[in-house]
Amino acid sequence: MDHLHGRYLTDGWHEARASFETVSPATGEPVGRAADCGLDEGRQAIEIAWAAFERWRTTTAFERAGVLRRWHGLMLEHLDELARLMVREMGKPLREARGEVAYAASFVEWYAEEGKRTYGSWVPTHAAHKRLLAIRQPVGPTYAVTPWNFPAAMLTRKAAPALAAGCSMIVKPAEQTPFTALRLGELWAEAGGPPGTLQVLPALDPVPLTRAMMDDPRVRKITFTGSTEVGRLLYRQAADTIKKLSLELGGHAPYLVFDDADLERSVREVVACKFRNAGQTCVCTNRIYVQEGIHDAFVAAFARAVGDLRVGDPMSEDTDVGPLVDAQGLAKVEDHVADALARGARAVVGGGRREGLYFDPTLLVGVTQGMKLLEEETFGPVAPVLRFATEDEAIARANATPYGLAAYLYTNDLARAMRVAEALEYGIVGVNDGVPGVAHAPFGGVKQSGIGREGGPWGIEEYLETKYVSLGIG
Ligand code: SIN
Repeated sequence: MDHLHGRYLTDGWHEARASFETVSPATGEPVGRAADCGLDEGRQAIEIAWAAFERWRTTTAFERAGVLRRWHGLMLEHLDELARLMVREMGKPLREARGEVAYAASFVEWYAEEGKRTYGSWVPTHAAHKRLLAIRQPVGPTYAVTPWNFPAAMLTRKAAPALAAGCSMIVKPAEQTPFTALRLGELWAEAGGPPGTLQVLPALDPVPLTRAMMDDPRVRKITFTGSTEVGRLLYRQAADTIKKLSLELGGHAPYLVFDDADLERSVREVVACKFRNAGQTCVCTNRIYVQEGIHDAFVAAFARAVGDLRVGDPMSEDTDVGPLVDAQGLAKVEDHVADALARGARAVVGGGRREGLYFDPTLLVGVTQGMKLLEEETFGPVAPVLRFATEDEAIARANATPYGLAAYLYTNDLARAMRVAEALEYGIVGVNDGVPGVAHAPFGGVKQSGIGREGGPWGIEEYLETKYVSLGIG
């Protein structure tokens, strides 16, 4: 890993003029010094991305699939190393980190094949002397801004379809997790990825680098996973050169548990949904509505399960919940819980911080409208449980938010499952499933949770243009 310090990847490795230190959230110890790229490095990367695109686009989908398959193989070969690097960078428990590397690799494997299926159409003609075709072509050089909470999977969820489609990509990883991204870029090169097709440029301040991308019309697409606030800014900036855009933004996921739910299984799903990655997942549930008939029994069983979660060193095989990513993340969690407790909520389990960046897995009841944790994403291990009476009420409360990324429900009534899933204004609905994300299904939000989809055939569409060819045959 030391060889990645202070370096960034374009068509080869470069020593950065400036660098910044990253620290492990678990120990506070330095992880390394990352290259700090700015406007000049961004402009140089665009030149390289354009030249690389002009060559990469002319390769066949089958040639590109070969490189992607080798990349997939290398990721699995280095699974443990990548997982441990991720743990050091952002504090995800090791078991989860291994799962994330496998998840990240699954996008590469899936798009290696999907690239071969970007079919065009032969359009029925209106004139005997003409033939009409619609062909699919890569959009061009792309710019990806990836988050710290899934440092590997969010990179491959963007890069795999882009590269399979024939685009080149410049990645700016989150400032907390530059090394996982650099290592993935290095493995891409080792797999035979041509120089400049996948570049990785860390930056402490993303603004100058992003400015270079926004100003240059040759960068044809922006893809971003992160907060709604930043997504809004990028949306505006992309307007000047009319770039294509995909945004996967904040969520405020409700989990509706109906009276007919299987108690033990619903608790298991809610725990998996809420506490993975210490609650730092865009699709983690943020508010759990439980129907009154099952409410008390659910809270009791949920409290036992939350109390059993093992908090500790993310590098340990036994840990369920690690630290928050940084002091800012911890401060927000503390603020949300303090606000709720001050306004009359009660902590059935947890409710406070521990030494370092750790926060106790927390279950709150007595939560009411107006509390901060019902207005915005907490992004931490805090589960507020609320009571509801009717299905209509649950749907209305679930939908009463500007966000629309993921929602969940638990019921054994098939008709209700379908009715409620259709009524929820969300891009993803997990029915009796707290962790629905897979490489071959569409992932993305509605309303202020974003635009576009990643995963499956929807994900590669984002990197393709349709060209109409009208052929006169005399
Ligand atoms: C995310 O938080 O955006 C990713 C979660 C997932 O893919 O399951």
